[in-house]
Amino acid sequence: MVARSPFGTDEFDSRQFRTAMGQFCTGITVITSKNSDDEPVGFACQSFAALSLAPPLVIFCPMKTSRTWPAIAERGTFVVNILSNRQQAVSAVFGAPGQDKFSSVSWDSSPAGMPVIRDSLTWVECTVETVTDGGDHYVVVGRANILGDVLQDKPLLFYRGGYLSTEHPRVTPAQEELDNFLTWNGGDTWL
Ligand SMILES: Cc1cc2nc3c(=O)[nH]c(=O)nc-3n(C[C@H](O)[C@H](O)[C@H](O)COP(=O)(O)O)c2cc1C
Repeated sequence: MVARSPFGTDEFDSRQFRTAMGQFCTGITVITSKNSDDEPVGFACQSFAALSLAPPLVIFCPMKTSRTWPAIAERGTFVVNILSNRQQAVSAVFGAPGQDKFSSVSWDSSPAGMPVIRDSLTWVECTVETVTDGGDHYVVVGRANILGDVLQDKPLLFYRGGYLSTEHPRVTPAQEELDNFLTWNGGDTWL
């Protein structure tokens, strides 16, 4: 017998799961690297987060079918480009399959030679620490080695399957809540 609760359902399909998870608003990154021919590769990725301050770790989840992921796994080095609200077109290009995604963007090389997409809010160069199974995705933990400059711009957001941008609402949580936030820098800038 199926367990029923007045507060939820255990009968849902992947479309309903996607709709429910789409209520969680995220930023958008493009994760870049180079393949064995030294060509730049990358894909749009919302499943990115800061994981640990000490040591500085990040996390992201590539689909097992991603064509970019094998190149990142082989290199062991990648750059996370955090997109600004001026870069919706960049997200669209890197969020779809394509041979020559980099022809539509300007990019520079990080210290390890990985692509840094110009005009991103910021970027971080990382090395792969661990890779574990996550259903139809991998769960990748990376160590942050190099931080790029931070642009004073607004982020590109993804919410309910669409793009969104926002002014920063200056609503400040209580101090004890802020202390637990990995992305609070102790100043008055809320990232
Ligand atoms: C806003 C947005 C967020 C995405 N987030 C992810 C993600 O977290 N993980 C993932 O594997 N693919 C994600 N994708 C889909 C990939 O970017 C897309 O499948 C892309 O074609 C993969 O390229 P590749 O096969 O060259 O690696 C996202 C796409 C968009 C547009």
